[in-house]
Amino acid sequence: MSPAIPPDIVSLADYEPHARRRMGENAWSYIAGGAADERTLAENQAAFARLRLNGRVLADLAGAHTRLELFGQRLDHPILVAPTAFHRLLHPDGEVATVVGAGALRAAMVVSAQASLPLEAIAARAAAPLWFQLYVQPDRNFTHALVRRAEAAGYAALVVTVDAPVSLRNREQRSGFRLPPGVEAVNLRGAPQPAAQPVAQHESEVFAGLLRAAATWADIDALRRLTPLPLLLKGIMTPADALRGIEAGADGLIVSNHGGRVLDGQPATIEALPAIARAVGGRVPLLLDGGIRRGTDVLKALALGARAVLAGRPVLHGLAVGGATGVAHVLKLLRTELEIAMAQTGCATLGAISPGVLWRPEAAAW
Ligand code: FNR
Ligand code: LAC
Repeated sequence: MSPAIPPDIVSLADYEPHARRRMGENAWSYIAGGAADERTLAENQAAFARLRLNGRVLADLAGAHTRLELFGQRLDHPILVAPTAFHRLLHPDGEVATVVGAGALRAAMVVSAQASLPLEAIAARAAAPLWFQLYVQPDRNFTHALVRRAEAAGYAALVVTVDAPVSLRNREQRSGFRLPPGVEAVNLRGAPQPAAQPVAQHESEVFAGLLRAAATWADIDALRRLTPLPLLLKGIMTPADALRGIEAGADGLIVSNHGGRVLDGQPATIEALPAIARAVGGRVPLLLDGGIRRGTDVLKALALGARAVLAGRPVLHGLAVGGATGVAHVLKLLRTELEIAMAQTGCATLGAISPGVLWRPEAAAW
């Protein structure tokens, strides 16, 4: 049986303290942490908070809805579950609990390459579209075989995360974070690792070590040739990379700074979005993640050019507190808040959400 959701939880932020208590400090340092000084992590939410909205009254909202179509897939609403690693760190049923919770809200879910359960076992419980997130592995044959497994299991899109070959997580380092026994990236079991080449004292641990087998644009070209699935690149933060991605054949781009976990000093994703949207000019759909905590954040992202958004940490908080029920509740809160925000800004459909919903400081000039 799923535990009841504590009655004082009425928003995504309310989940945080409960989740922290449930998971303990080891897991918390991994889930909550960002890169280095966590400035980008903080900015993701702060930048949403700085944007204000224009309330509109008396609009006719008969027949209003949040439906959309992405890559030929019909979605009830534009809120997806972001790929996050190791759900068994938070709940014994791991990603199966998450996919059941997502399915209850008909939310599409992106399953991490570092999931802690077999990708086929997760797919068997899906009730809404499932996409597979890939990290290019040092062994490219293994990487391509993993894509074939995802295709065979019915995954409906491939999301290649391109922003995380190296990262510096001081919070995890300080806490001495360790995966507990029995929690591992089971889908990567047996992946051949390049023979460890000793890095001499005077050599770079980064360039000669960690980055030796890192992905490049040539890998995206190879994946494009390999799979007929819709191909998305996750971790795009500049117009230049967005255009390069489209050239490489990407069907969609996810504007993401990995929840502030990779390059500290990047802007918030919501601040990076408008220039990327301008450069892309509607050629492929843009999605956004990072700091989505309220329905009004979803509205703001859609107003500035995203077709849909993904939630990372809030889903993990829901999972830790209430398993599948907690995940469903988190998604339900966000979806209901989006509907309320649409009603209050006079938008009957997602297509009606334009930059006009955002209040501009110039408008207050006197
Ligand atoms: C992530 N993220 C991530 N991304 C990815 O492509 N593959 C992965 O395995 C993971 N793992 C992961 C673990 C944890 C604990 C976190 C917090 C994040 C990044 C994730 O998909 C997403 O970009 C961010 O989480 C979005 O920001 P918010 O919603 O957490 O603010
Ligand atoms: C992370 C990796 C798994 O953010 O993407 O922890």
